[in-house]
Amino acid sequence: MIEYADIVADLSWGDTGKGKVTSALVKQGEYDFVCRWAGGNNAGHTVFVDGKKYKTHLIPSGVFHGVTSVIGPGCVVHENSLTAELRYLEKNGFDISKVRVSPRAHIVSRLHIDEDIERLADKLGTTSKGIAPCYADKMARKGTLAKDVLPYWMMWDEKLYGKVLCEGAQGFYLDVDQGNYPYVTSSTTLPYGACSLGFPPQKIRRIYGTCKAYDTRSGVDPMFPDELLNDPELLKIADKGQEYGVTTGRRRKVNWLNLDLLIKAINISGATDIIVNKVDILIGTGTYKLFHDGALKSFENYKLFRQYIACFLKTSDNHVNEIIFSKHPEII
Ligand code: IMP
Ligand code: MG
Repeated sequence: MIEYADIVADLSWGDTGKGKVTSALVKQGEYDFVCRWAGGNNAGHTVFVDGKKYKTHLIPSGVFHGVTSVIGPGCVVHENSLTAELRYLEKNGFDISKVRVSPRAHIVSRLHIDEDIERLADKLGTTSKGIAPCYADKMARKGTLAKDVLPYWMMWDEKLYGKVLCEGAQGFYLDVDQGNYPYVTSSTTLPYGACSLGFPPQKIRRIYGTCKAYDTRSGVDPMFPDELLNDPELLKIADKGQEYGVTTGRRRKVNWLNLDLLIKAINISGATDIIVNKVDILIGTGTYKLFHDGALKSFENYKLFRQYIACFLKTSDNHVNEIIFSKHPEII
């Protein structure tokens, strides 16, 4: 029986430290499963373990701590990339024997990738990993299932029990329904999507919502105009924060935190615990600004910036219990 499910979900455009938060929660030793419910290797997770940096795309961050790590039925899997990631983790001394793939996950083919590169990559700034064409085939009910392609030992028996941690991919504003369509990804990034792993919403205990002290966007989006790349203060943050895509190597556009959008994401996703990551980067640049009520506000110091955010997030909706401001790449 499932005792409870906790969920880690991004409240912005991805790249806000879900991997870090997942790894830190798993390290506390509570969970029986860590599961991904959506996306494929379009995701890029940077996780520090004992001070060393690792980069993953598809395999849930439970793998860093020997916990059963499930790639769920809502995910899409490119076989060679999965194999390469397993080898990379094994080479670095991690136990990959507990990585499992849902037999109902869908397989990304060479044709999917070619179509993505030819038709979508330039226009929408996709990661070129074949994600949209693969989900299109899934929805048209002509996709290829993992159980027909991947080795038997990798198959998940579709059983969940005990304490489950669900690790999101991408972010709230990349969700196919809630995002700025068509500048979105092709899956459900909102935490309710985790139920597609096979548990009812009543089992959800906590929803950890992640964001950063500033916003970033990798890929095309009219909400992040090119002018952002000419702003010296924002460029400084981008450099200090190493805001380059883990999957694509592209420079991410940086903007000041949009508190209006963050509050909307919290309210709709149901996040109970908010983790504001990369606070150390803003402290490093000494610039504290955010958008609220449609206007740009500046703060003299970190304390005032933090107080302002905490005040509005606490009162934004009564399901927020805790707000954590994190200054460390490994610890929350
Ligand atoms: P796709 O998921 O490759 O189709 O890309 C669609 C959009 O989502 C593009 O703007 C990508 O840059 C963005 N995207 C997809 N995955 C991630 C991610 O893990 N982090 C940040 N952006 C992403
Ligand atoms: Mg990422």
